[in-house]
Parts: sequence; C-alpha cells; structure tokens
Amino acid sequence: MPNIPVEKLHALTLAIVRAMGSSEQEAREVADHLVDSNLAGHDSHGVGMLPTYVRLLHEGLLVPNQTLQTVSDAGAVLVLEAARGYGQAMAREAMRRGIARAGELGACIVALRNSAHIGRIGTYAEFCAAAGMASVHFVNVADHQAYQAPYGCSDARLGTNPVCAAVPGEDGGPALLLDMATSAIAFGKARVARNKGVQVPENSLIDAEGRPTTDPVAMVDEHKGALVAFGLHKGSGLAVMAEILGAALIGGRTIKDEQKGGVVNSMLSVIIDTRRFGSAERIAGDIDGVKSWIKASRPAPGFEEILLPGDPERRSRAARTSGGVPLDERTLGEILDAGASLGLERAALEGLAG
Ligand SMILES: NC(=O)c1ccc[n+]([C@@H]2O[C@H](COP(=O)([O-])OP(=O)(O)OC[C@H]3O[C@@H](n4cnc5c(N)ncnc54)[C@H](O)[C@@H]3O)[C@@H](O)[C@H]2O)c1
Repeated sequence: MPNIPVEKLHALTLAIVRAMGSSEQEAREVADHLVDSNLAGHDSHGVGMLPTYVRLLHEGLLVPNQTLQTVSDAGAVLVLEAARGYGQAMAREAMRRGIARAGELGACIVALRNSAHIGRIGTYAEFCAAAGMASVHFVNVADHQAYQAPYGCSDARLGTNPVCAAVPGEDGGPALLLDMATSAIAFGKARVARNKGVQVPENSLIDAEGRPTTDPVAMVDEHKGALVAFGLHKGSGLAVMAEILGAALIGGRTIKDEQKGGVVNSMLSVIIDTRRFGSAERIAGDIDGVKSWIKASRPAPGFEEILLPGDPERRSRAARTSGGVPLDERTLGEILDAGASLGLERAALEGLAG
C-alpha cells in the first residue's frame, strides 16, 4: 500500500471539498479534520469519508456553508441546530461557542442537533483541550440503517454512537483522550477491512442470522448483520445512553426516526474550564501522577507495554506526519471517482495525489 505525503493528501482533499461548494474556511476545516483523522490513525474517519460526503451532497443530505442556528441560550446551556450542515464546520463552531461560554461561566453544556457527519469526535475534545478545557461528549448516529446490535439483540438497533472524554495537557494537546465507538469496532473500520481484503477482529460482528463472523463484506456491501457492542451489557448500556443524551434528550434526530439515507450526528458536550479546579501545575501534576502510577505496572503476558487513552493517536500522528498516510488503491479510486462526479478532472486529481 503506497504512503501518500500529508501535503498531497491535504491538497487532494481540499480540491474535492472546495468543488462541493464550501467556502474556503469551511473547505479547510473539513480537509484539516479528515487528514488529521488519518494522521491520528483513524482511517475510518479520514479522507475515505469523501465519497460518502459527495453522495450525501448529491442527495441533498449534506449542506455546505450552513449557518449554525441558536435554538436557545440559557447561559450555561446552549442548544444549537446544524440542519445537516457540513459536520466538521458545525461541530467546530459549536465548540468555539461552548469554549467561550465555559471561559465566562466555568462550564457550558452544548447540545448540537442534526449535523451532517461530524467525523472523529476526538478532534473536538482536542479543540477544547487546546483552550484549557476538559470535555465529555455523547454522540448518536441517525438517518441511516442501524449498525450496532445492543446486548441481547439479534439485529442492529443503534448506530455506533461514540463517546469521548479528554483533559488538557501542558503541551496544548490533551493529557488523556478517550475517543471510541461504543460498538466493538467503528463501522468505518469494517469498511477499511473490506477495502483491504482482511478480516475484522473476532467478537466484533454478527451475520444476518445473529451468528459471530469476522468477514466484513456482507455487512459493508449489503448491510447484512450487525456490529456488536463492546463490553457486553456495559458497553451496550453506554451506547443506549449516547442515543438518549446525545439525541433524544436534546431534540436531535434519533435512530428510530425516518431514515433518509444520510449520516446525521447529534452531540451533547460538557465543557469545563479546568482553571476552576486549581492551578494548571497542580492539575498537571495530579494527572501525571495517576498516569505514571498506571504505567508503573508490569505489562501483562502478551503485552509489550502499557498504553493510555490517546497514546496510540499521538504515536500515529508522529509517524504519519513524517512518513505519510497509507491509502489502499480501492479507497483512493473511490475518492478520485467522487471528485470526478463533481466535474473535476480525474487526471488532475491523480496528479495531486501522486
Ligand atoms: N461521527 C460518528 O458518527 C462516529 C461514530 C463512531 C465512531 N466515530 C469515531 O471513530 C473513531 C474510531 O473509534 P474506535 O472505537 O474504533 O477507536 P479505537 O478502538 O481505535 O480507540 C478507542 C480508544 O482507545 C484508546 N486505545 C486504543 N488502543 C489502546 C491500547 N492498546 N491501550 C490503551 N488505549 C488504547 C484510544 O486512544 C482511543 O481513545 C473515533 O475517533 C470515533 O470518534 C465517529
């Protein structure tokens, strides 16, 4: 699989998002987000999403240059409507407003309703962390067929409903960042596995009969079967609560509403100004103390080292920033096709990527 240098991947992505009609600022926010997701190691939420975004645009299910509307503003609680706006821009703007308000009041709860796909949730927690804010995010996924079978279910009833939490570190990035789908694997990881022609890990997928399988093809191509919730009843319960907190509570579209074949995310974010808890030095020292305490354990048999939430993303970003991003032929081909469907010259796009 060839590695594409970061600048080339960014140029290709920017050209396609611009051709979708986004303003220069929005196009850059989307391109930055997608490429950074690849850098963080989450290819499932990187540039491989472009063909889906172009399809959603053609079907009127993703709206470039949308204005984020304030539904209500109760000081510490902001309710915002994205109306299928480009998710990366809508969620970023929601975080900007929430961070500003948390800076004034100490904390802010942001309810973002009905955005087109907002991508990798960790990006928004990183945005909060860079402003000195801790944050927690509950997200639902709606407007398309359910992918995840909750505990005890024989078919899919929920989206992959991610949950994310982070605390700021001293270098402008998060000291710890937990960012995860509540399904054992994200749907995008099944798509990446299908495109690479490999199996998914055991205990992450069931087939149309509810039996365990590691073959992602039927699930990805025909939506037959379901992803399994992580952590038995506990992970499944978290997925249910992400649906409730992230959408049902705040008035966002839920999984049981009419499906138009889009990808709609609603997100409840709790943003906390950490200065209200003490000095940055005291907090950093206490967080580092806990991290060191955990890492001081002897790795269990089969483990070479102990990693904490956010470590894999940091390492991936360091490696891929210098070494480039691996992109399989099938995914690259789908991206070029999507660009061509917007009227861009395929040869010119190949030139940007190559
Ligand atoms: N917008 C959406 O609709 C949507 C839906 C689902 C998922 N997502 C995104 O998909 C991405 C992938 O999710 P995922 O669940 O596949 O992530 P993952 O399983 O790769 O990682 C989950 C978490 O575990 C940590 N982690 C990974 N390996 C570890 C190890 N060995 N030791 C300790 N910690 C470790 C990571 O730092 C991360 O915080 C996320 O960025 C998520 O936000 C988005």
